[in-house]
Amino acid sequence: MTAGQEGRRRVLVLNGPNLGRLGKREPAVYGTGTHADLEGVCTRTGDQLGLDVEVRQTEYEGELVTWIHQACDEQTPVVLNAGALTHYSYALSDAVKMRTAPLIEVHLSNIAAREGFRHESVITAVATGVIAGFGFGSYVLALQAIASAPPPGQPAPGAPPVS
Ligand code: DQA
Repeated sequence: MTAGQEGRRRVLVLNGPNLGRLGKREPAVYGTGTHADLEGVCTRTGDQLGLDVEVRQTEYEGELVTWIHQACDEQTPVVLNAGALTHYSYALSDAVKMRTAPLIEVHLSNIAAREGFRHESVITAVATGVIAGFGFGSYVLALQAIASAPPPGQPAPGAPPVS
């Protein structure tokens, strides 16, 4: 596990293709907040929870895979919104399978209530859990889940482990 600023637990929030277009992109589905707004929500939530949160966005599958590899090597928890790659990227799925810390799949929209191709996720089976449908709140909930996770190797008392 890597320690971030002031010894706080480091968390990566990784956003995939088209999420940099938030605010302009289908506001009826994704809201009017921009990616910079989302970044602010995540870092402020991290501050409240004692997490050192870094938010990144890319249009490229390979870059996302490389960031997941880094997180695996450093035992860094991840909040992942892979965008459309969620539905078909076996490369990303294979990378997530190697995770060494909690990885929460998130979606702004409720993908189960949308077009059929969005109902399948190749990430869910290898993630710790999924949060979808709460807009920016999906990220807040995911960060809360990570903050409440026990240190690696230790089960949560009275609850199934978030590993
Ligand atoms: C999304 C849902 C995906 O189906 C879509 O391709 C996205 C965003 C979401 O956050 O709701 O890019 O992951």
